[in-house]
Amino acid sequence: MSENLIVELKEAKIYQQKTLILDQVNLKIHRGEFTYLIGKTGSGKSSLLKTLYGALPLKVGKGTVAGFDLNTLTRKTIPLLRRKLGIVFQDFNLLTDRNIQENLFFVLKATGWKDKAAMQKRIDTVLEKVGLTDKKAKMPYELSGGEQQRIVFARALLNQPDIIIADEPTGNLDPDTSDDILLLLKELAEEQNTAVFFATHDYRILENFPARIVRCQSGRILDEENFLV
Ligand SMILES: Nc1ncnc2c1ncn2[C@@H]1O[C@H](COP(=O)(O)OP(=O)(O)OP(=O)(O)O)[C@@H](O)[C@H]1O
Ligand SMILES: [Mg+2]
Repeated sequence: MSENLIVELKEAKIYQQKTLILDQVNLKIHRGEFTYLIGKTGSGKSSLLKTLYGALPLKVGKGTVAGFDLNTLTRKTIPLLRRKLGIVFQDFNLLTDRNIQENLFFVLKATGWKDKAAMQKRIDTVLEKVGLTDKKAKMPYELSGGEQQRIVFARALLNQPDIIIADEPTGNLDPDTSDDILLLLKELAEEQNTAVFFATHDYRILENFPARIVRCQSGRILDEENFLV
């Protein structure tokens, strides 16, 4: 696989239990590429993303993400794969019992960091990137929804991921706050050459921040030129 290919699926079948959700999935995402994933509710967006981060097994077809073979993932290699990914969901899911700095510290510790000074430096760097250095000592509930989601993106950036996989990350935010998040994400992606795969329902976002679009439709993944009307 080329160094520049962060995601490659070939003739993959995506299942939920025994139900085939998506068939003949062929998808390539390159380093630094920003790609939207759209499709009606229940069309398979989350299922596809889950397969990419190893929450659903890839049983049929080939798949590689950030250099990991999805067909041979094990309980041991899944955490290693996840370290190469920044995963963001709709719900902000920060740990509510500790402040922002401790939330970020927790993730670094869980992903094998040991050097306290290096950890502190990395936390400061990502907080600076999302413009929230001054919120370090605040509890999550002391932040607005938009600020919390920016912290979640900061958390996703901690380990300098090859790709950010975001499942409707702006679903709970108002339009202005969504726009702020998109601006931030596009800037970060460009700056660090991080790919982004961004599932959304929000056509306003697609119009305001144009990028490549792939769609889940009729049990397939289609690139824009093949969309069925
Ligand atoms: N844990 C599960 N067990 C069984 N079936 C599931 C499970 N999760 C999802 N499904 C089914 O898989 C199909 C695809 O669901 P998925 O969540 O991938 O859709 P989606 O495009 O993300 O939808 P939404 O836009 O509502 O988030 C749906 O028919 C859904 O009912
Ligand atoms: Mg979904």
